[in-house]
Amino acid sequence: MRRGTQVKGIVLAGGTGSRLWPLTKVISKQLLPVYDKPMIYYPISTLFLAGIRDIAIVTTPEEQSRFKSLLGTGSDWGVSFTYVAQAKPTGISDAFVLCEEFLAGSPSILILGDNLFVGAGLGKSLARFLDHTSGARILGYHVKNPSDYGVIEVDENLKVLTIQEKPAQPRSNLAIPGLYVVDSTAPEKARQVQPSARGEKEITEFLSAYMLEDNLQIEVMQRGSAWMDMGNPLDLAATSDYIKVIEQRQGTKISCPEEIAWRSGWITDAKLIELGNRLAPSSYGKYLGSLPR
Ligand code: DAU
Repeated sequence: MRRGTQVKGIVLAGGTGSRLWPLTKVISKQLLPVYDKPMIYYPISTLFLAGIRDIAIVTTPEEQSRFKSLLGTGSDWGVSFTYVAQAKPTGISDAFVLCEEFLAGSPSILILGDNLFVGAGLGKSLARFLDHTSGARILGYHVKNPSDYGVIEVDENLKVLTIQEKPAQPRSNLAIPGLYVVDSTAPEKARQVQPSARGEKEITEFLSAYMLEDNLQIEVMQRGSAWMDMGNPLDLAATSDYIKVIEQRQGTKISCPEEIAWRSGWITDAKLIELGNRLAPSSYGKYLGSLPR
């Protein structure tokens, strides 16, 4: 996998958001505010930082028009967004099947629409991931509550021994964040995944296929870097606070897609100023307009 255009991105932004009801009764979780921007800006920014510009946004059919109103075709940001509907939340690994036509044989990065990644070295990690030619690559993150996540067990050489989805008795405290880099065999592998006891085609089962081929690599995220799953009220509020504190302290924005597109040379100074003017009354709009100066 080479960095840049040939690796495609998928943002998984469907589901019911049931752990956030009633907040998500009439709107998708991934459109909720996280301090000063919609939640989906964060995973989109992570893909942008990895140099990914061709991105599928998977949503429920009902909410697709809202995502289109927010994000458009991507041309304003110098990228391309393709919209794919998922009728039922049949499981994370199903995204590769739904996006098979979009992927057209390309390797890809799938990122969950409610996951936040912030930290020095993350861009470099992703760039390293994309340099590989085959297999799957995932991150690992030490947590206090591994039972809430996919959990991975590794040996001292980081060889993957087991992967389990939300195990009652976790074999390690290494959770698997919602960012998966996979080669072109992903749709084929995803098609083999059978629904679990809770009726979902689990991402852990999908990753096991790569593990069995001895083709699953893990990179443990550095201490101090942040990974948040914003799918419950406590972590949603904590993430908003975290972004607020860092942005206020430093005077710069975290995960601002327009800024990343501009710094990457995908849009001009004039375009960034135009985008800022469109959001003019807000501090977000003023921030965009102030960048080229
Ligand atoms: O956040 C990381 C965790 O995400 C991983 O450690 C787990 O292995 C993985 O299964 C997942 O667990 P969650 O319980 O957090 O998954 P959730 O059902 O919240 O779905 C994650 C995101 O994907 C969320 O934004 C909704 C979306 N989604 C989910 C499913 C199952 C869809 O768009 N379609 C789906 O079919």
